[in-house]
Amino acid sequence: MSPDTPETISVRAPGKVNLALYVGSPDITGFHPLLTAFQAVDLWDAVTVSSAEAMSIDISAAFDVSTIPLDSSNLVWRAHDLLREHIGEIPSAAITIDKTIPVSGGMAGGSADAAAAVIALAQLFGLSPDSAHLRDLARALGSDVPFTLVGGSAVGRGRGDVLEPFRNNSPLSLVIVSSDATLSTPEVYRRLDDLRGEDKVSLPDSFSPEFMAAWRDGDAHALAPHLHNDLQAAALSMMPALHSVLEDTMTAGALASMVSGSGPTVIGLASDPEHASDIAQRLVEQGYRAMAVETTPLGTHPLP
Ligand code: C5P
Repeated sequence: MSPDTPETISVRAPGKVNLALYVGSPDITGFHPLLTAFQAVDLWDAVTVSSAEAMSIDISAAFDVSTIPLDSSNLVWRAHDLLREHIGEIPSAAITIDKTIPVSGGMAGGSADAAAAVIALAQLFGLSPDSAHLRDLARALGSDVPFTLVGGSAVGRGRGDVLEPFRNNSPLSLVIVSSDATLSTPEVYRRLDDLRGEDKVSLPDSFSPEFMAAWRDGDAHALAPHLHNDLQAAALSMMPALHSVLEDTMTAGALASMVSGSGPTVIGLASDPEHASDIAQRLVEQGYRAMAVETTPLGTHPLP
């Protein structure tokens, strides 16, 4: 490290929702090909790193984080290992994660932490992986990590790691209804395969022009009938209580409600920020953990 390298680096990364998620039958590796509409939301995890004698992870959050491992199985630790193996020898690090993205909620919170850790550790230790290296590293950490690095809006294909980012003309307003319960992503994919049985499912080639136009223009009313999630049926069959969360979100005024990714977080679509706040407040009054969020054009970036 050069003498003028800062001692502590903080980087934040956004949570995501899939406004549409189509899942094909698994390939020979067991992964499922996807066509998905990735959208980053204004809900962030921050990762702070500093050089240390030994690796450590500390997590702070306003909700239960006891299920998150603090050892080498944590994605931020894996990010450190992968940087060391593939980019350059680096010292150990003390890593602090400030979480606001729900844990195992289908909003890529673990991927956000991994993306933020890669950028923070590289900067702390003066590494500058080129974009190809960074992409490979992100892919190795998880299917959602490449999107979380770029953020904003992107059509995702492959495992979700082949991205076509684009710029929205206007943000969307959403309500996030999180749950204390968690769902395991691999188990949700497995349940989907079980529900489909022997049927081979192929993907649409692309999204409809109506969907793309509504997404690009932030037109919630036009977008509402197009929200789609192939994993929803699997998440509902594993956690039937989600049926009433979806219903209550509609009753509270959402234009559409849907399980986010592999769940169990539910998203409600609203027409503007005030509408989203109204829906969130109604749900909170019924005992839900709900909040209004806007979509963001940003991705993973350093904090001052
Ligand atoms: O890539 P990631 O570690 O986030 O994925 C977690 C698990 O979800 C994978 O191990 C796999 O079982 C499942 N998955 C899948 N197809 C995808 C993405 C994830 O089957 N496209």
